[in-house]
Amino acid sequence: MGQKAIVETNGLCKSYGRQVAVNDLTFDVREGEVFGFLGPNGSGKTTTLLMLLGLTEPTKGWARVADFDPTKEAIKVKRIVGYIPENIGFYDDMNARENLKFIARLNNMPDSVSSAQIEEALESVGLKEEVEKKVGAYSRGMRQRLGIAEILIKEPSIAFLDEPTLGLDPEGTTRIVDYIRSLSRDKNITILLSSHDLKQVQKIADRIGIMINGRMVAVGPLEKLAKEKLGVDDKEISLDDVYMKYFQEVSA
Ligand SMILES: Nc1ncnc2c1ncn2[C@@H]1O[C@H](COP(=O)(O)OP(=O)(O)O)[C@@H](O)[C@H]1O
Ligand SMILES: [Mg+2]
Repeated sequence: MGQKAIVETNGLCKSYGRQVAVNDLTFDVREGEVFGFLGPNGSGKTTTLLMLLGLTEPTKGWARVADFDPTKEAIKVKRIVGYIPENIGFYDDMNARENLKFIARLNNMPDSVSSAQIEEALESVGLKEEVEKKVGAYSRGMRQRLGIAEILIKEPSIAFLDEPTLGLDPEGTTRIVDYIRSLSRDKNITILLSSHDLKQVQKIADRIGIMINGRMVAVGPLEKLAKEKLGVDDKEISLDDVYMKYFQEVSA
C-alpha cells in the first residue's frame, strides 16, 4: 500500500450559523487504503464528505482530493470519486438496469461500452434476478447494492461511502461489507467509509479516524490506537473498547 495521500485536509472547518459541524480537521486518506471514518450521529462525518466533494464550502481551511481543490474543481473531483450518499437516490420509476444506464451516460460512457459492464455489475451485487423491478420497490439493502454496482461501473480511484450499512439487517450488512472489501482488493479503489458500526469497520479498515463533536480525536491503525489508549498489545483488540475510551475522555 502506498503512503501517498489521495485525500488531504488542513484546518478544515464548517459552521452552520453558530453550529460548528467540523472543527479544525486535518487528516489524510492514503492511496489504496480503507479508511474507517467513525463517529456518533452529528459528529460531522457527512459534512466532511460534502466538503471533500465540493458540495458545500468550508468556512475555513482547505481540502485536496487527488490534488484537486473541491471548492474550485468540483467537476474534476466528481469524475474520479464514487459517492454513495447517506440517503442514496435513484430514479424510483426505472429499474436497476435503466438507472445504471442513465448513470453511465452521465459519465460519458457510450452504451456499447457500458452494456456489458452493467450486466457484470448487476451480477456481482446479486441484482440480476430483480433487475426488472422498479427501484422504488427496492429495499434499503438492494439500493445499497445498486450503489455498489454504480461504483463498479464508474471504477473511480476513490469511493466515499456514507453509512452504507445503516439500517441493514446483519446479512445485508455482511454482504455490503464484503463488496466494499472487494472494491478495495480487486478494483484497487481507495475507500473512505463513514460509519458508526464499529464491528464492520474493524473488519475492513486499514486505518481509523474517530470524529467526536466535529473534531478528529484519533487517527491510525486500530492496533496503534489500542496501544495508546488501552495499553493493550494483543490480537483481541475490540474497536468498541478503543472508541468508548476516546468517547469518555471527550465527554468527561
Ligand atoms: N445543512 C445543515 N444546516 C445546519 N446544520 C447542519 C446541516 N448539516 C449538518 N448540520 C449539523 O452539523 C453537525 C454535523 O452533522 P453531520 O455532518 O451530518 O454529522 P454525521 O454525518 O457525523 O452524523 C450536526 O450538529 C448537524 O445538525
Ligand atoms: Mg452522516
